[in-house]
Amino acid sequence: MNIDTKALAEKYGTPLYMYDFDYIENRYTTLKDAFAGKKSIVNYAVKANSNLSVIAHLAKLGAGADCVSIGEVNRALTAGVDKYKIIFSGVGKRDDEIREALQKDILMLNLESEAEMKRVELVAKELGKEARISIRVNPNIDPQTHPYISTGLHENKFGVELDMAKRMYIYANKSEFLNPVGIHFHIGSQLTKLSPIQEAASIVADLVRSLKAIKIDIKFFDVGGGIGVVYDDEVTITAAEYTQAIFQATKGLDITLLCEPGRYMVANAGAFFTKVLYEKVNAGKRFVIVDGAMNDLIRPSLYDAYHKIEAVGVDANVETTPADVVGPVCESGDFFGKNVPLPPLSHNDLIVVQSAGAYGFTMASNYNTRSKPAEVAIQGGKDRLIRKRETYDDQVRLELEYLGVMG
Ligand code: LLP
Repeated sequence: MNIDTKALAEKYGTPLYMYDFDYIENRYTTLKDAFAGKKSIVNYAVKANSNLSVIAHLAKLGAGADCVSIGEVNRALTAGVDKYKIIFSGVGKRDDEIREALQKDILMLNLESEAEMKRVELVAKELGKEARISIRVNPNIDPQTHPYISTGLHENKFGVELDMAKRMYIYANKSEFLNPVGIHFHIGSQLTKLSPIQEAASIVADLVRSLKAIKIDIKFFDVGGGIGVVYDDEVTITAAEYTQAIFQATKGLDITLLCEPGRYMVANAGAFFTKVLYEKVNAGKRFVIVDGAMNDLIRPSLYDAYHKIEAVGVDANVETTPADVVGPVCESGDFFGKNVPLPPLSHNDLIVVQSAGAYGFTMASNYNTRSKPAEVAIQGGKDRLIRKRETYDDQVRLELEYLGVMG
């Protein structure tokens, strides 16, 4: 991508998120093409980046959506995702969320416990509808990733064990208000190894075969998300390797394959721009203080995640020294990088935090009453605003009317 980052930062201000829509399109088509010859839906995991324009861009290309709240379902619908390509996952859905999802007639609700299945049955009965469901199986596979984003082990809160899943399918199959159309697993995020995915897919495919033997026909086989991306120098899975492993595991089954990539689609489409406020040295340690903070991009603070950090427009020959790049928030955990080799910097120099397109803005908060950054799309060499910078007024809007009411 050839863009003038400095001009962009001038035009829209900082801190700022920027997403390359051409890159997103390329990622989608690469993955979709890797499913060629099979029935498939790529259900973009909206949680990674839920900006309406990002979702709409993917919807136009034919993507479905994997949602984890009714809010995300509504975002997907608003952005133009085909309702029959929307799935609603998550360990804890409220009755009102279940009701709304059923009323909106999305493809299926992905269930994560027997108790939840009974709730969905009850709500479907109240509505006089049949709920299309899938069950999230926990195949007890170690995905070999960060423990916070590992989800496929029995010790994690996600999904149900195989035996329980089978019992649930038998129950759902008999119910007048449940239609078990799908099966699902998701073993973790930022997976860079193929074997855990293939192993999980094989275990779940065997369950589909055993269900078929008792006349329960599963139509949608959802392998979840999790394809890892390159933040630093990781060697990760290609789209072709990924789909081949799934084809191998599901051989002989007449099913539609679903996957739920989030990070794969958007992580490296995005960058976070922030400006240098000051430099300082404390007891020999160099700090670069920038105008972005952990409330804007929390991955380094929360997961100790690595994001490449670069100073824009600085002569490559200038000597660098290590610096911690930190924000203005009142927490020691407020950093984007530690010991980052950086040249001497001055007020208003621009810093780019790379690979910030996934779990960046969506995990942003208003901590310290900091307003959320603006978001910009780049497409065909042109830039456009896709979310205005939040203002102080936006932040206090829901509180102001109560000022003084309690005396
Ligand atoms: N499907 C399900 C059921 C999920 O729970 C997730 C992610 C995905 C799909 C998408 O996974 P992806 O393809 O993006 O790896 N905030 C963390 C990541 C949390 C992932 C949660 N679930 C981070 O910043 O790394």
